[in-house]
Amino acid sequence: MKPMQDRVEPPFWMQGNFAPVTEEITAFDLPVDGAIPPELSGLYIRNGANPRHGQSSHWFLGDGMLHGIAIEGGKAQWYRNRYVRTPIYEGAPRTLLSGLDIRYALSNTSVVAHANRIMALVENALPMEISRELETRGFNDFGGRLATSCTAHPKICPVTGEMHFFGYRVVPPYLTYHVADAAGALVRSVEIPVKAATMIHDFALTARHAIFMDLPVVFDMPTAMTGSTMPFHWSESHGARLGVLPRGSGADTLRWIDIEPCYVYHVANAFEEANGAIVLDVARYDEHWRGGPKRNAFDTAALTRWRIPPGATRAEETCLDDRSVEFPRIDDRRTGLAHGIVYALATEGSLADGVFTELLKYDLKSGRADRRPFDGELPSEFTMVSPAEAAGEDEGWLMGYVYDRASARSDLVILDAGDIGGKPVARVRLPVRVPQGFHGTWIASEPRQRGTAASPWSWIGSN
Ligand SMILES: [Fe+2]
Repeated sequence: MKPMQDRVEPPFWMQGNFAPVTEEITAFDLPVDGAIPPELSGLYIRNGANPRHGQSSHWFLGDGMLHGIAIEGGKAQWYRNRYVRTPIYEGAPRTLLSGLDIRYALSNTSVVAHANRIMALVENALPMEISRELETRGFNDFGGRLATSCTAHPKICPVTGEMHFFGYRVVPPYLTYHVADAAGALVRSVEIPVKAATMIHDFALTARHAIFMDLPVVFDMPTAMTGSTMPFHWSESHGARLGVLPRGSGADTLRWIDIEPCYVYHVANAFEEANGAIVLDVARYDEHWRGGPKRNAFDTAALTRWRIPPGATRAEETCLDDRSVEFPRIDDRRTGLAHGIVYALATEGSLADGVFTELLKYDLKSGRADRRPFDGELPSEFTMVSPAEAAGEDEGWLMGYVYDRASARSDLVILDAGDIGGKPVARVRLPVRVPQGFHGTWIASEPRQRGTAASPWSWIGSN
């Protein structure tokens, strides 16, 4: 028998509520505590890694599993969890080359609804279309026009209804920016010249610009050749910069803005001041993956503002709060427009400790942060849902899955965005637990007129 100290601790993503669930279930007419607002009519879907065979070599590398709840008329009609049926899920072998195949990867990170399609996303694959009942329909390559992967964080412009996104690769061309129009047609693809392959999780959009992050977590080919499934590491020499591209212009108009070396997974939002300065609010890591990803550690990030004055070649940087946070979100109606509020999850220690302690609501004008602690519970990302186009920035609800350690089950918790610390508006009681995952989205049942084209938010058809 091996001595205790030689036992290998499971990685953090296989412990507690990070661990996968084993069944796909469907449950109807879910019990609700409180009252679901009658204005809420639609579908909340959240994606996350849930390794089908019980093991994965990294937190980011489990099969995608969607957890959805349909809400209508004050009732929670159903809950479903479904794997995204990718080629890997279906049993295709993983090889070094398959890591480069955009029709191969795990679709485990987020969900977007655009132009009558719901798509599960991961940054190294094509979008995977799913039905309203969470069944996998197949990759969406935009009629054969999309030749790269699609970020898990596309931006839907609330003015034009366009979906802006990018794909990155570990071989040239490393980074390509794309725009799909409000009807879902891919209308622009622009290669962004960067000198090396880096891990690029997110980007930013303003009313007039797209902003790309060239940060020093670099692809490591020798490590990849050893079979490592996450061959990226911190680089002391790569530097850090933001590429600012006018929307609608070619790469010849791109300008690079220097920043202090750091890593950012998530941009909360970006916008332009009246004088043309560009502002980005991000969850910023001082450094990330020095020596490569760790089995039982993750670095910590803090809410940080970059401001690029007109004509500047270097961004101003301000730490807005030194608490450890991740999953920053805004009211998506303000994507690319000025925002005054950011929601984020605070962690005790790093994400690897698995302790998301509270939801924070940053009022960036007053500098105040409202808190919602979760005693005995573990929250996931919260998504802001507004009741109407004309509603105020924090008029509406926040919804997210919350795991209760005592019962080992989860609820969909709906909070009043204007009073996040108050009693939840509603709790949808689920018969199972929902593992800690990544990103969710709310898909309203009724179309909302957005932009100048036909609404991209029209009813998402069922199977
Ligand atoms: Fe993300």
